[in-house]
Parts: sequence; structure tokens; C-alpha cells
Amino acid sequence: MKKIIFAFAVIVFSIASCSKKSSPTAAKVIDGAKIFASDCARCHGAQGVKDSRTPNLQTIALNKSQLLNSITFGKGHMPAWQGKLSPAEISAVADLIVGWHTK
Ligand code: HEC
Repeated sequence: MKKIIFAFAVIVFSIASCSKKSSPTAAKVIDGAKIFASDCARCHGAQGVKDSRTPNLQTIALNKSQLLNSITFGKGHMPAWQGKLSPAEISAVADLIVGWHTK
């Protein structure tokens, strides 16, 4: 009888630990607006418009691939974001800016 209880306990324990392992870790959601607020807004303003030192990102005539290029490699006085932001994060902020254009 003890053996059966022990076996049962082992099964319950292994099921419990198994289900813990297989529970999906929450997928990291990349929020372009959050990245813009923390990394870009200090130079570009919260909505992409600040002063004459930075272009108006609400109206700038760049498509997504041009945006990716400028953000990744930098432009003029803007630092390159390659290595500081992941390609997926750069893509998310580029999408945010493209979204402003098509509003
Ligand atoms: C240190 C200040 C600074 C920060 C931080 C900054 N920028 Fe810029 N950004 C600039 C300046 C200055 C320019 C104008 C560059 C030029 O044309 O000489 C610029 C230009 C741009 C352009 C236009 C590029 C082009 O090809 O004309 C885009 C798009 C842009 N920034 C997006 C971003 C994004 C997205 C972030 C955040 C990840 C960001 N910037 C962070 C200063 C900054």
C-alpha cells in the first residue's frame, strides 16, 4: 500500500512539475510607442515633433525601409540604433512612425 501511495505521489509530482515547465513564458510584446517614449522622445518630442534640430516625424516623407535604414545606421546627428535596439524593436518604432503618416 505504501508503494502505491508513493507511486501516486511521484506521478502527481511529475505532472505538476511538467505542467509548470510547459506553461508558455509570456511572449515579449514589443511596443513601438514605449520604445519611442524612452529612446526617441528626448530628441524628437513625445509625438515626433519637437524643434528645428530634429525633423518632424509626423510628416517626414520616408517609407518603412528608409526609416529602418536611418534608425538602424543613424543619420547626421542622430546616433545609430543598431546594437542598442534589436531589429524587431527598430521595426516596431518604424511602424509607429509609418502609422503617424497614414493617420
Ligand atoms: C540624440 C538625439 C536623438 C535621438 C535620441 C533620436 N534621434 Fe532621430 N534624429 C535626430 C536628429 C538630430 C535627426 C536629424 C538628422 C539629420 O538629418 O541630420 C534625426 C532624424 C531622424 C529621422 C529622419 C532620418 C532621415 O533619414 O531623414 C528619423 C526617422 C528618426 N530620427 C527617428 C528616430 C527614432 C525612431 C529614434 C529612437 C529610436 C530617434 N530618432 C532618436 C536626433 C535624435
